[in-house]
Amino acid sequence: MAKIGIFYGSTTGNTLKAAELIQKAFAPEPVDLVDVRQAAPEDLREHEVLILGTSTWHWGGLQDEWAIFEDQLTKDAVQGKKVAFFGLGDQKHYPDHFVDGMGLLYDKIKPLGISTVGMWPKDGYQYEASAAEVDGRLVGLALDDDSEPRSTPKRVEAWVEQLKKELRL
Ligand SMILES: Cc1cc2nc3c(=O)[nH]c(=O)nc-3n(C[C@H](O)[C@H](O)[C@H](O)COP(=O)(O)O)c2cc1C
Repeated sequence: MAKIGIFYGSTTGNTLKAAELIQKAFAPEPVDLVDVRQAAPEDLREHEVLILGTSTWHWGGLQDEWAIFEDQLTKDAVQGKKVAFFGLGDQKHYPDHFVDGMGLLYDKIKPLGISTVGMWPKDGYQYEASAAEVDGRLVGLALDDDSEPRSTPKRVEAWVEQLKKELRL
């Protein structure tokens, strides 16, 4: 079992694709991919670093399987871990709710006193409002495979490099 686990929820496959890119960018560091559709609370406990990835649906809501699994993000399951976030969204069609789902996961984790990594600048995105924006920054990596698919690989590369430094890998 790798110490890093990517927990993703994906309806049409975009978040899964991003999770796989993130996994590759960490190589040779081993990273587990866990679909929250099949995940159990023990899967969270088994990893020291949790990378939580969700898309946003229903105008500002969590991806459907995440909406079920989010209750497993208890203090007991995540304490002592480092947690990072990434979110898939569509800034052109949902500019008032861009990657809100990522913000919802952050709001679940942050009050537990958990240490988070991977904050990301909002430069280069065009949206009106996002629940994932805190103090002028995004709480994690935002990806938009609907409006800017070509930006995804380089954003992933840069974010993972940042994470490696923050995690001292
Ligand atoms: C009905 C519908 C609602 C959506 N709502 C939002 C939204 O509120 N905010 C956002 O950023 N993206 C929204 N999206 C875009 C999806 O998050 C985006 O397509 C994402 O890449 C899907 O990833 P997935 O295939 O991993 O679930 C929505 C898409 C659809 C079809």
